[in-house]
Amino acid sequence: MMGPRDLKVNGSRLRQALEAMAGIGATPGGGVQRLTLTDEDKRARDLFVTWLRELDLEITIDEMGNIFGRRPGKNDELAPVMSGSHIDSQPKGGRFDGILGVMGALEVMRTLCENKITTERPIVIVDWTNEEGSRFAPAMVASGVWAGALDRDWVYDRRDINGRRFEDELERISYKGSVPCRKFPVHVYFEYHIEQGPILEREGKRIGAPKGIVCLHWYDVYLEGEANQVGPTPMAGRHDALCGAAEMILKVNDLPDRMGGNMVATVGEIQNHPNSRNIIPDNVHFTVDIRSWDDDLALRAWEAVRRDFESIAERRGCPIRIEETWRVAHSPFDERRVQEVLAVATELGYPCLPMVSGAGHDASYMNQVASTAMIFVPSIGGRSHVEVEQTSWEDCEAGANVLLHCMLRSANER
Ligand code: GLV
Ligand code: MN
Ligand code: MN
Repeated sequence: MMGPRDLKVNGSRLRQALEAMAGIGATPGGGVQRLTLTDEDKRARDLFVTWLRELDLEITIDEMGNIFGRRPGKNDELAPVMSGSHIDSQPKGGRFDGILGVMGALEVMRTLCENKITTERPIVIVDWTNEEGSRFAPAMVASGVWAGALDRDWVYDRRDINGRRFEDELERISYKGSVPCRKFPVHVYFEYHIEQGPILEREGKRIGAPKGIVCLHWYDVYLEGEANQVGPTPMAGRHDALCGAAEMILKVNDLPDRMGGNMVATVGEIQNHPNSRNIIPDNVHFTVDIRSWDDDLALRAWEAVRRDFESIAERRGCPIRIEETWRVAHSPFDERRVQEVLAVATELGYPCLPMVSGAGHDASYMNQVASTAMIFVPSIGGRSHVEVEQTSWEDCEAGANVLLHCMLRSANER
């Protein structure tokens, strides 16, 4: 059997693919803005599909807009090995988050095709719709529907900040397929991704193998105040929704310290109405994101901060409404596959490290229905979800080599 040192991906071809994708939705600051179901997402999907066609893959687009490219195996009835990630990005996001995992899997396919290597099992490449959850909350919705964890029609009805519906936008960009979005048997799912944190760089390692993904809990908070002219209205007796939100936001920031545990808590999005400097704000919406490896700690933290929110709202006379938008439990990967990632990296001569993913990935939902593992490469300066997000081309190539050999091994298992 071919050993890891005998076959390598083409690093410059991978770089060219990543650079072509980085040109779609490129921002002046060197990042990309390719929000899900926008024209930029469509253009990147179209290019991806063109590349899948060139490889003669069997292409399927399902009713959530997930794009699959299947390469037959010698034993075509066996469950496939699958790999991919997402093409969508954050607003002013980076050139690697998500797209590296899609282009990495594409480079694996290209390497297998040009070397005329046929695996026992079929291999499937996937682009999952709306991983980011930034335009339409929550995140990872399409792998969630595929895995049976989220309801398709609930996702179809989600709206962006301008009131546009998810399903309408999916249709508008012509990526609402007719194939049901429903899980099929998968032998192993590998997702290749940038780390998005500082650990690999700090430890001087090239490859990370997460043992799993933290839990993700998202909430939406709506506060109502009383608008009035700021000049004549005395300070006493005001119902200022933005001041209520300000107090609440700091409670969220204090939460990890207060709980004394391993967790993070963030308010990242806020809308203030009517957003005029001389009107007391009467409507505020903000989001809360809580993550931990310990689901119970995250839930207890939420209960504590929710009680704070209620007492702040009461004291300020600002009625509060809270939506528990999304919960995904922490997701421990298949230990055997995690070890395999470490073993393949070691065989290839890449220093590697077991770790935990603090970022959410479609691998979280995949892990609910198939044996799953991920491959991480370093993020320079630990920066991600920003335009300066960077990973060296050598590391991009190294991670793709690990992906290639992890996929080859499992695709040749009977
Ligand atoms: C996905 O990008 C996340 O929020 O971690
Ligand atoms: Mn991502
Ligand atoms: Mn992301």
